[in-house]
Amino acid sequence: MAGLPLARLMPIERPRGTNDYGPEEMARRRAVEGLLRDAAHRFGFREVSTPTIEHLDLFTRKSGPGIVEELYAFKDKGGRDLALRPEFTGSIVRFYLSELRNLPKPIKVYSVGNVFRYEEPQKGRYREFTQFNAEIIGAPALPGDAEVIALAIECLRSVGVREVRVRVGHIGMLRAFLRVPPEDQGKILHWLDKRNFPALKNELARLRLETLETPLRQYIELKGGPDVLDTGAKVLAGVGTEGFEYLKALAKRLEVYGVGHVTFDLGVVRGLDYYTGMVFEVDSPNLGAEKQVMGGGAYSLAEVFGGDPVPQTGFAFGLDRVVLAAEAEGVKLPVPRLDCYVIPIGESMRAKSLEVLQLLRRAGVSADVDLLGRGPSKNLDYANAIHARFGILVGETESKKGRVAVKDLDSGKQEELTLEAVIANALQRPKA
Ligand code: HAM
Repeated sequence: MAGLPLARLMPIERPRGTNDYGPEEMARRRAVEGLLRDAAHRFGFREVSTPTIEHLDLFTRKSGPGIVEELYAFKDKGGRDLALRPEFTGSIVRFYLSELRNLPKPIKVYSVGNVFRYEEPQKGRYREFTQFNAEIIGAPALPGDAEVIALAIECLRSVGVREVRVRVGHIGMLRAFLRVPPEDQGKILHWLDKRNFPALKNELARLRLETLETPLRQYIELKGGPDVLDTGAKVLAGVGTEGFEYLKALAKRLEVYGVGHVTFDLGVVRGLDYYTGMVFEVDSPNLGAEKQVMGGGAYSLAEVFGGDPVPQTGFAFGLDRVVLAAEAEGVKLPVPRLDCYVIPIGESMRAKSLEVLQLLRRAGVSADVDLLGRGPSKNLDYANAIHARFGILVGETESKKGRVAVKDLDSGKQEELTLEAVIANALQRPKA
């Protein structure tokens, strides 16, 4: 070791805020992802994919240069300003303007992938995480918003997460009340979202809007049934009732979808700048501080990138948080298990075991075999440790009868079966 620089002997850790996922965890994540994809397909959404890196401008054009602090932004070797995507919505709108707009409307798309945010990490909040994102472009507001909320709830239901709170608000009414240019609205909404009241006060003072502080603070506390919408209209004096009536109509429509447990929450302000209409968030109360499993709403971004206005609405889940929510509720996820672990009884049966292995695999059964030359009992320990369903013991006596000994690793029961019967049993996989 002499002469090696010390730094080369130090273990290399993964970057802060990122995760490694082992086989068990990855299986659970893939199971959840599969259920979310199935739900999206049942609702007529189709998958699209966009790059992990985008031009920085895609994120700064709407949110201003301040957003760079929250991004992984860098120059590439050609001196171009790029960023790792912090979410999908900007990319989908860019893709819509360049190509997707030629598809028949409405455009209903979803994506799954990793996104990056330079945030202070804690449980459930990472710097790299996976989002499941869905958007509808080109459907009128009411049917579009109802469809995305219904899909969001269906996604959680299909994963088995039951304890959810759906909170729906309307950012358009707040924007109308502010009567300042969108950049200034953005700053006020930002401090409202963060509940940073000293900063809110300063911002309102800068804009000579001090009188708005009290109604704004009252407004974001309004939460409950339809009556809070009437109070909201009174608190935001002069904005009218259009957005509030809209939310009532939306709740009615959602009831038809079987989503009857919506709470109106006028304090849903959302951290992203582009929302202009209905906004919503879904919490899993079991998750502690980072309890928001998903968020979304109606927004206007096409105009920001030079396109014609078009109704847009959507949402995104943090996949990690859905998995945590499912685990917190003790949901048993349908994680695939290895069907058969083939064990030769003695070295002389190794070739025969490999034959059995091939036959099982070709029949569509997932099968593995001892690679280390271990004895039968050590092999059974290994098969149990990797949660295989059956141990297939290939011994000389059974083999002569065209059979194998099959040990059900859940019940511990053992029986002699033909390979056809093993295959038939293995292909009958339990649901979860
Ligand atoms: P968002 O609320 O910023 O919305 O993120 C959506 C979800 O991503 C959150 O509800 C949360 O579950 C998860 N999430 C956010 N930050 C983190 C983090 N640091 N670590 C782990 N999970 C996190 C959007 O991204 C919008 N693009 C949603 C949308 C689509 N709106 C309209 N269309």
